[in-house]
Amino acid sequence: MRTVWTFHIAHSVVFGQGAVKQLGEIAVRYQAKRAFIVTDPILDKAGLLEQTRRPLVEAGLQVAAFTGGEPEPSMKAAIACYESAKLFQPDLLVGLGGGSNMDLAKLAATLLKHGGSPRDYIGDDKIPGPVFPLICVPTTAGTGSEVSAASVVTDTENHIKVGILSNWLRPTVAIVDPLLTLSCPPKVTADSGIDALTHAIEAFTAIENADFPLPAGERSVYQGKHPMGDVCAERAITLVGQFLRRAVKDGKDIEAREGMALAALLAGMAFSNVGVAVVHALEYPVGGAVHCSHGAGNGLLLPYVMQFNLSSKLKAFARIAELLGESVVGLSDQAAAEKAVVAVDRLRSDIGVPGRLRDIGVKPEQLRGFAEKAAGIKRILRVNPRSVTVDDLEGILKAAY
Ligand SMILES: NC(=O)c1ccc[n+]([C@@H]2O[C@H](COP(=O)([O-])OP(=O)(O)OC[C@H]3O[C@@H](n4cnc5c(N)ncnc54)[C@H](O)[C@@H]3O)[C@@H](O)[C@H]2O)c1
Ligand SMILES: [Zn+2]
Repeated sequence: MRTVWTFHIAHSVVFGQGAVKQLGEIAVRYQAKRAFIVTDPILDKAGLLEQTRRPLVEAGLQVAAFTGGEPEPSMKAAIACYESAKLFQPDLLVGLGGGSNMDLAKLAATLLKHGGSPRDYIGDDKIPGPVFPLICVPTTAGTGSEVSAASVVTDTENHIKVGILSNWLRPTVAIVDPLLTLSCPPKVTADSGIDALTHAIEAFTAIENADFPLPAGERSVYQGKHPMGDVCAERAITLVGQFLRRAVKDGKDIEAREGMALAALLAGMAFSNVGVAVVHALEYPVGGAVHCSHGAGNGLLLPYVMQFNLSSKLKAFARIAELLGESVVGLSDQAAAEKAVVAVDRLRSDIGVPGRLRDIGVKPEQLRGFAEKAAGIKRILRVNPRSVTVDDLEGILKAAY
């Protein structure tokens, strides 16, 4: 079967300990004079805002900041961020934080360039052209938003997370400095780290690019499993297996922090081209209703979805077991693939991510509604290696309850 695939990331990626110090000269190269940093009160207090502001000021830029970011941000926060940015009249946005702040900055970059309201852009490929210049500086190792095509916000009226997907949302520059993740508390480290693993596994076990069921006339940034995505996903899975437990146990373990920063970046490069699938489709309604973190919701659901998908991608799941350090010599594909589910579930448990929906406040009577909402998120369900019905989705949720 013929396949044609594409691969997009940020225009450039700068990676390494101390990389944030280059922010000023990079901004100058992009001819910026007024930089607007999007962040939150915790990162301000932790001194990370200052570490980001300093190189910009030293390079001669005027700098202002929005510190109203919040975890799993609401559309209201996005609009507040945009309005505050507009008043300052910047020529460069800097998204500093985890996925939450980077996604706010992406939405502000969209509104600054194209106007309108966040709702105008929800879905796949609704942004008409390039957005405002944006440098993303992640402080968690998880979402990959620093290179991805997504911005995810919470629709508080409808109790669901909504995604805006467009290749125009990829930042101009990603500055990935593992030193900025040293202050991440263990829970944030665990949740964001298992999100990165989910990205890599959903990309590595996605439907093949040649079979990607995109209806005629529709466009999508996701395109199914392809060789470039596989290279990134395989390395990301290995790195998470090597370093996530260590990063959670000892936040100052710089080797582990650097390994996880690279894992998250590579996983972001994989999923943002190949796609994410049923884990993410189910997490959007679950997280929107019970307000667990995106990573905790994904980590909880991941082994159950892997089990559901196992038969359709035995070799890929067997490979995941191997990448996670399991011995698969002499095993059948089925037996090796099952080891991947066990290994992921053990990792989840070791880093303290809950294993049951009932543990995060879900009620049994909510499951059908979650399944129905997830069934509507076609742009990601079509990435799954097995097609799913509402009953299938409810079955996965029941197993995870
Ligand atoms: N755009 C994408 O491609 C994409 C992909 C996956 C997830 N997401 C979204 O990203 C969000 C989750 O992002 P996240 O997991 O990075 O967490 P987060 O951005 O929500 O951060 C969680 C908390 O940790 C704090 N924090 C972050 N870095 C810290 C540090 N270095 N030191 C101390 N505290 C720190 C933050 O202030 C915040 O309170 C969700 O909204 C999710 O839906 C987006
Ligand atoms: Zn995710």
